[in-house]
Formats: sequence, C-alpha cells, structure tokens
Amino acid sequence: TVQQRLADALSAALRETGPAAPSPRPAGWGDPMLRRSDRADFQANGILALAKKLKGNPRELAAKVVEAIGPNDELKEIEVSGPGFLNITLTDEAIVKTLAARAADDRLGVPYAENAGTTVVDYAQPNVAKEMHVGHLRSAVIGDAMVQILEFTGEKVIRRHHIGDWGTQYGMLIQFLIEHPHELDHEGVEEVTGEEAMSSLNRIYKASRALFDSDEAFKDRARNRVVDLQAGDPETRAHWQRFVDESKIYFYSVFDKLDMEIHDADIVGESGYNDMLDETCRLLEESGVAVRSEGALCVFFDDVKGPDGNPTPLIVKKSNGGYGYAATDLSAIRDRVQNLKANTLIYVVDARQSLHFKMVFETARRAGWLNDDVKAVQLAFGTVLGKDGKPFKTREGATVRLVDLLDEAVERATAVVREKAEKVGLTEEEIVENGRYVGIGAVKYADLSTSAARDYKFDLDQMVSLNGDTSVYLQYAYARIQSILRKAGAVKPAAHPELELASAERALGLHLDQFGEVLSEVASSHEPHKLAAYLYQLASHLTTFYDQCQVLSADNPPELVENRLFLCDLTGRTLHQGMALLGIRTPERL
Ligand code: ARG
Repeated sequence: TVQQRLADALSAALRETGPAAPSPRPAGWGDPMLRRSDRADFQANGILALAKKLKGNPRELAAKVVEAIGPNDELKEIEVSGPGFLNITLTDEAIVKTLAARAADDRLGVPYAENAGTTVVDYAQPNVAKEMHVGHLRSAVIGDAMVQILEFTGEKVIRRHHIGDWGTQYGMLIQFLIEHPHELDHEGVEEVTGEEAMSSLNRIYKASRALFDSDEAFKDRARNRVVDLQAGDPETRAHWQRFVDESKIYFYSVFDKLDMEIHDADIVGESGYNDMLDETCRLLEESGVAVRSEGALCVFFDDVKGPDGNPTPLIVKKSNGGYGYAATDLSAIRDRVQNLKANTLIYVVDARQSLHFKMVFETARRAGWLNDDVKAVQLAFGTVLGKDGKPFKTREGATVRLVDLLDEAVERATAVVREKAEKVGLTEEEIVENGRYVGIGAVKYADLSTSAARDYKFDLDQMVSLNGDTSVYLQYAYARIQSILRKAGAVKPAAHPELELASAERALGLHLDQFGEVLSEVASSHEPHKLAAYLYQLASHLTTFYDQCQVLSADNPPELVENRLFLCDLTGRTLHQGMALLGIRTPERL
C-alpha cells in the first residue's frame, strides 16, 4: 500500500536522525504510527511519543525527520504541526498509481501471509436428530467467513464439523427404531427433503422419549443398546448410521439454504474419535495430568471452582466408565495436531462453552499436545437475542427453528427487491434469486458486522433496511457500480495518474488502498466484523463520491470519465471480493 511505503520512509528517516534504539529494542520503537486524518491524508504521532519517552523536544525531532526524509515524489506535503505531529499529504499521482497496480492484480494486490501454516477450523457443528437453531447459525456463518478469509491469505485450512452424533440418547433412538423398523422408510417418496427428514426424526425422538420415560423395560433395553453401540455391534451401528444419514439430509438442506458449501469429508463428528478415547485417557493418567477422584478420571485447575468453593474438575472418564464431551475434544486435539499437522486450532463455538474449552486447552497444554508452536483458540460468540433483548424464542417460548427464520428473511428480502424490480427491469426469476441472496446476505451480515463476542438482536426489519450498516446497502452499492459500468458502454475504466483528484476521490482511493492490510489483520485477529466495517465504510465513501463527482457527465473530459470509472470498477471488485469472503453474494442487477 502507499501507506506502507510512507510508513517505511518515515521509519527509515527516524532511524537515521532519531536516537539509537536501546537494546533490546522496545516494541513499537521507531513506529511512526500513521493514522488517517481529516486535515491531511495522514497524521504521524509516533515521533511525539518517542520524544516524550526520551524527554527530548518533539517538534525538533519531527523537524529533523522531515529533513531526513529528503526528496520523495509520492509526498506532496509534510509539515510539523501541534506539539510534534507530522501532517502528511500524498500526491494524487501516488494514490492512483498504487490503485492501478492493485487493479491489475487478480487478488487486488492482497499479499499472501508470510508465515502461512495449517489451521483447523471447527465450525458448523449441529447435532444429529435435532433441529438446528440460531446458535448453529452463528457458528456456521462466522466459521465459514474465517475459513474463506484465512484461505485467501494463503493459510492451509482444514474444516471440521464436529457434529453431535454420539452419546446415551442414541441408545433410546436406536432401540425404538429396532422395535419400529419402518419409521424411517419414507414409503413412496421420491426425494426426501430436509423438512421431511427432520419431521420423521422429530417424531421418532418424541415417541422414543415418551416410551423411555414411561416404560421401565424399554429404558433397560435402551441402556443396553448404548453399550452395544459403544462396543461397535454391527446391527446397532447400522441403525445409528441411519439416524446420521437422515440428519445429514436435513443439515445439507439448511446449509444449502444458507448458500454455504459443506463437504461430507469434513464432517467428523464426536463418533469419529471413539477409537482414540481409551488411549487419550491412558496418556493423561500415565503422565499424571489426570487423576482418579471418586471413581472418575479428572483434571483439576486452581482457578476453576464451583459455588461451594470446591474445585470443579474436567471429567475425562466418568465413574461408570463412560466418556463425555471432554474426552472427545481432547482426542480431536491429538488428531488435529499429530495427524493433520495443524499449528492453529480455531473453535467457533458459543461463549457459553468457554469454560469447557479453557479446561480442555489447558489439559492439552499440560499433556504437551498444545504448546508454543501449536495453539488453540475459541472464537467464542455471544447469544442471539429477540427484539425484546432476551434470548431469541418463539412467542410460545420454544427455540426458533433456523429454517423458519431463514425462510422469513428471504420472504422479506424478496418483497424489498420486488419493489424496485420494475425500474431495474428484473425478470421474475431474477427477483426470486436476488431475494434469496439479499435475505440470506442480510442474516449473515447482521451476524458478521458485530464483534462475535457480543450478543446481537435478531431484527429482520433492520436487517433488510436499505439504509444503514446492512448487506443490502452494500449490495446496492455494488449493483449501482455495475449499472454505471454498463451505461458507460464502450468507454472503459482506465487509470489516469496525471489527473488531479477531488477530495471525495482521494478519500475513496485511500480507503481502497487499505484492503490488503485490513484482510491480514482480520485473518490474524480472527475478527471478521472488521472486514464488514471496512466494506461498509467503502460503500459510504462511494456514496459521497457519487454525490460530489459526476461520473458519466457529458461535460467531463474523456480521461476524467475513464479515471472515475476506474475508481468505480476497483470499488466494485473490492466489494465483491470482500463480500464473497463473508459468504455474501453481490447480484449484478438489483
Ligand atoms: N455440537 C455442539 C453444539 O451443538 C458444538 C460442538 C462444538 N465443537 C467442539 N469441538 N466441541 O453445541
């Protein structure tokens, strides 16, 4: 970026004139701390901070730096201001040339990360035989964005969908299916839809639950069935597989609705680590990381205590010999580190599971599976709230079905699209398609535009609003650019570095310049909401630019038209790329 070159030049000048860095070199020493500014293009605050630290005169040091920077044809103006800031303005030529280089590159000039490694992202992990809810939405949306962003910056990414497909409840379900063998048959149905799959699973769940609660003999048979399942009895396994397969039909239908690609090979549920559980426990016990306590195999932590003040352990193996969620997650860590060779593990999971992951990660560190070279982080997300600010529920107090929510979003969005459709000349088919892209985009964007850790209100009215920080606003910005480019006909975008830029053009250009830097920051801090914020600002700069600068005016000389088309085009490509990384489509006509 032109900003990076400027920062480098300032650092070099500072090294030349400024005081020598003490050794070891303090963090941030010699960083000019460039920020965008209203008065000039940038303000550098680093000299002030440095001089203060050394009890020197900041204005004098700043003046020396200006001198040392010498002739630089990218700089239009550099002046010392206030107590010792530098105000810096770039030449218009430097901005346009840098953007032209960006435009000539398929990747829009975004560099690959220098130390790319392998990351496993654990996300989109619904549970077999259960309805998906808004919590599963968040994990899927945030996880998918993280995967795309990391891959774009050159990281090798392995996706893992750690679905809940193991545990005592399958004893009950399988036993019921064995006793009512036709419950999952779908007689006469040509293609089983997700809805249908879920409704039969729900029916079986309810019926088997009722039996389990009322019939002691069934309860016993169900409990024995769990033992068979864990022992790998083929018939039991085959019935279990039917539940998994049926659930997958449903999961895929929801992911499809979400316009999200999920691959079978990446679905490795809790059951996938079954063969490792024994060994995991043995290793933990032998190394003394886990100890026997009241018959259970436990790991203790100084800082994890229950309300009674007694330590709350992580239970790896229960006193009845059963394994739980923790043993599976610890085995998954071993697999991801030792077999998949990951250096980073990201878990996109509800913040309400933070204590679990804190204990699991600490246990894995004590066992040596995680260390300074292999780290695990939970990308924890907050709760989705209803308009009333309470956890999202239906009017009857039930959990909201994710599918219903998505259908409603698409319905609302289609109405919004339809309103404008005639003016744009959209066909019915395009209206339907755009309605989907706008509705699903709205849901994804609302999730991605606030920091993951925060709770957010699920408010469809706000989400499909054309004004404000919404995906529709960004999608319209993109479509408007495409419409201008179409109208321009034979006149093609072309950069003209020799032209003088209007202030709205400079602001747009300097913001475009930041794309690569924002992406690498978002990739390393795991904060997709910063990409959403960047894109929203980009669309806002574009709006100001339209207000102040005519693009296709007959009064404009041809170079000016081409240069403005160039800015439009690069903005469009940046919007398109950025939205794609967030999993959101940008229709060409809207
Ligand atoms: N299936 C779990 C749920 O619905 C989420 C799994 C999270 N991933 C993990 N490795 N534990 O809450």
